[in-house]
Amino acid sequence: PAPKPKKRFRFLRWAWRLTWLSGLGLTGAMVYSIYSLRHPEEQFEPSPDKKTLVILGTGWGAVSLLKKLDTENYNVVVVSPRNYFLFTPLLPSCTTGLIEHRSIMEPIRNILRQKKATVKFFEAEATKIDYEKRIVHISDDSEIKGDISDTEVPFDMLVIGVGAENATFGIPGVRENSCFLKEVNDAQNIRKRVMDCVETAMFKDQTEDEVKRLLHMVVVGGGPTGVEFAGELKDFFNDDLKKWIPEIQDNFHVTLVEALPNVLPMFSKQLIDYTESTFKEEEITIRTKTMVKNVTDKYIEAQVTNPDGSKSIEKIPYGLLVWATGNAVRPVIRDLMGQIPAQKDSRRGLAVNEYLVVNGAENIWAVGDCAITNYAPTAQVAGQEGAFLARLFNTMAKTDAIEKELQHLSDTQSQAKSNDERNQILDEIRERQKQLRRTKQIGPFQYSHQGSLAYIGKERAVADISWLSGNIASGGTLTYLFWRSAYLSMCFSSRNRVLVAFDWIKARLFGRDVSRE
Ligand code: FAD
Ligand code: NAI
Repeated sequence: PAPKPKKRFRFLRWAWRLTWLSGLGLTGAMVYSIYSLRHPEEQFEPSPDKKTLVILGTGWGAVSLLKKLDTENYNVVVVSPRNYFLFTPLLPSCTTGLIEHRSIMEPIRNILRQKKATVKFFEAEATKIDYEKRIVHISDDSEIKGDISDTEVPFDMLVIGVGAENATFGIPGVRENSCFLKEVNDAQNIRKRVMDCVETAMFKDQTEDEVKRLLHMVVVGGGPTGVEFAGELKDFFNDDLKKWIPEIQDNFHVTLVEALPNVLPMFSKQLIDYTESTFKEEEITIRTKTMVKNVTDKYIEAQVTNPDGSKSIEKIPYGLLVWATGNAVRPVIRDLMGQIPAQKDSRRGLAVNEYLVVNGAENIWAVGDCAITNYAPTAQVAGQEGAFLARLFNTMAKTDAIEKELQHLSDTQSQAKSNDERNQILDEIRERQKQLRRTKQIGPFQYSHQGSLAYIGKERAVADISWLSGNIASGGTLTYLFWRSAYLSMCFSSRNRVLVAFDWIKARLFGRDVSRE
């Protein structure tokens, strides 16, 4: 008989088999998940006597609600001017073409088609919410309009997840002259304008001062949006622009302007220092204690607080101006707040209770950036709020069904002929009551903070992460790798994950595309 292989080789052989099998399993699971995504099952129409649940928006809050909602329990209607979900954390990377914008978009139609029961979607903007009449007025604001482009959607229950708009604080010239960074078209606009500034600076006979101005990229707002964008833009210059257009090398500058004494106020002191020193290495100028007061088409006017405490006004010329000073309330929300007396003291958005019900309004809930809670307006908060509402609505539908059944049981009990029959129904009633109590036990919304992450350029990121009830504050290349893998895993779908990964590889191999389209 052949001698048995040594123990060590036997182990290797088994390890090899196991790897092979798990590889096969993983491939199978992926093929199956792609197949089922491409071939969704037939959907059914929920019965018309179910309540109508209207959801406004297709952002973090609304989509995380839709993801977990049992749509068979309601007639669900979604209204949003955007027929896709946008993975905002990677939006700054789209401004330089590191990631193509379609890689971080997920069509809402795909998401809704995966639900068991049909969901209606209207690509429209909610222009007014009439909370007393329970009607949302909607308007088609797309380029192509049919005979009807304004109409009403009645609701029994309403979830508002319309997010926020860009804050400008009424500063003159901001809307006319700057780019924002909230939506896909903002990122495309920035990408186009960076290249326009560069090519215009290279125009024949351009004066030296004008070249300097055109190549000065100013970012206003030292929150995470401004910091991430400044880092991405400097990467673009270092990795690609200066290689293809070396003439701009001496004049291309990025300046970050912040009214407060430091950038990234939500991060720890250590990470703020790390970010500031990385920016110094990258030659990104940080102008703190500098509050922009006026914007013209060629320069900004800012009030600077000098080291001795005195204030002066300074003109800063720019070619590209990106405005990232946080959130403001959308008009539709301001209008609703005006209709509800209980909202008269709210300023920054809809005040909600611990179940996310809009104070002073029945059957209206608000999630994400348009709601005011104790938490920062982030995707993390909006996502958890949406998931909480899905649980709440699924539970409410179950309790409705149990209550109906209880009513039916007590009707049959009163018609029961024998004592035995009556006792049997009574037992059933007790059992259903117990179930009802259990189902109703859904606590208030509680946010679980997973940490904050921000990319700061030069393949570095900062992270404030809650870990086993302690806090880890870290910055650097390892954190950057963690940032990349965390965001990749958080992408909405496998399709998004594959596209983003390909974009990263593509940029690494061929560089970013510097054509202006
Ligand atoms: P949104 O996601 O903004 O969605 C609002 C939805 O409502 C959109 O679909 C919009 O089209 C729709 N809508 C607008 N007006 C109307 C209307 N009148 N009627 C109907 N629908 C309407 N947070 C993090 O936690 N981590 C990050 O890394 C991070 N990175 C970010 C990067 C950038 C560049 C930006 C801008 C934000 C980032 N955020 C991040 C914040 C995060 O994106 C927001 O907090 C989050 O999007 C809020 O979710 P929301 O559902 O309230 O609103
Ligand atoms: P922000 O509100 O966090 O920061 C805006 C900054 O602009 C503030 O520091 C403010 O002092 C400054 N500012 C305001 N007016 C100014 C003026 N006139 N002149 C100069 N500076 C001025 O806004 P941001 O960065 O847009 O973020 C919005 C929300 O989205 C935040 O809650 C943030 O946490 C979240 N977000 C999170 C990210 C992450 O976790 N990586 C990335 C981007 C956004």
